[in-house]
Amino acid sequence: MTTGYNFTQKHILGIHHLSVDDIDFILKTADSFKEISTRAIKKVPTMRGLTVINLFFEPSTRTRLSFEIAAKRMSADTYNISATTSSAVKGETLIDTARNISAMKPDIIIMRHSFAGAPEMLTRYIDASVINAGDGSHEHPSQGLLDMMTVREHKGRLEGLKVTIVGDILHSRVARSDLLGFTRMGARVFVYGPATMIPPGLEELGATVCSSLEEAVADADVVMTLRIQKERQKDPLFPSLREYAQKYGINRRILDQARPDAIVMHPGPINRGVELMPDVADGPRSVILDQVTNGVAVRMALLYLVMGNT
Ligand code: CP
Repeated sequence: MTTGYNFTQKHILGIHHLSVDDIDFILKTADSFKEISTRAIKKVPTMRGLTVINLFFEPSTRTRLSFEIAAKRMSADTYNISATTSSAVKGETLIDTARNISAMKPDIIIMRHSFAGAPEMLTRYIDASVINAGDGSHEHPSQGLLDMMTVREHKGRLEGLKVTIVGDILHSRVARSDLLGFTRMGARVFVYGPATMIPPGLEELGATVCSSLEEAVADADVVMTLRIQKERQKDPLFPSLREYAQKYGINRRILDQARPDAIVMHPGPINRGVELMPDVADGPRSVILDQVTNGVAVRMALLYLVMGNT
């Protein structure tokens, strides 16, 4: 177990709230937890007797399942509530839902919601620790952390690397958490996408906004591509998927402009043939499934660390 640092965060609401030392300690703790998932008996008693609730108001495969697996591997009791199976469909407010869940004395609540700031609001009504599993277009801190863990594992460092993010930056909470995390840890983040999907103010957050895909990918150590978040667009922001794939899709020809040892990442779910061509997604440079594996370790680390401050 990693020791020697006083981690004081009760909630994980965003990378924005984490210092360089917090991030480094979370990643080191995740490194130490990763081995548990390779054992024949994948269970330790660390969280025995604690109650973890997955409160997901938006769909999820990776985040929800990996938080549940992480909690179960540490022997916590886990429960899942989704929007469709909760009393939210009967008109209950989020605050009432929060107060009622709190009355059942959970220790940690993991929340995904379409409204930016919903997990932060939850902290004002409950005693439990809250972990943000993605709030609107705001942040997805555990994804940012697992992305940093994956890059550090493959590259041995984060400092000085060129990390390129291509796609729907405007609506992506992953892009925001990655941008905040990678720049905080000393990497250089370059972004590219349709002008309609590049929000203002990215330079102030430390990103370089590129004017072509070639410029974005040239000599990159990491090429990350993002799905178009159709669920967050009122009107279409590009002419057609075909045109999007031609202009912004990562294929082998484009990837050849990155460093020879560049890795390809995607938070999932992938729209194959749109933002990422299948031969690249499944190719030798892809570390997409490593991201998923590391997601369990990072989420074990987050549960373990906030557990100490609940
Ligand atoms: N990366 C991610 O958040 O995936 P899910 O939506 O499947 O959780």
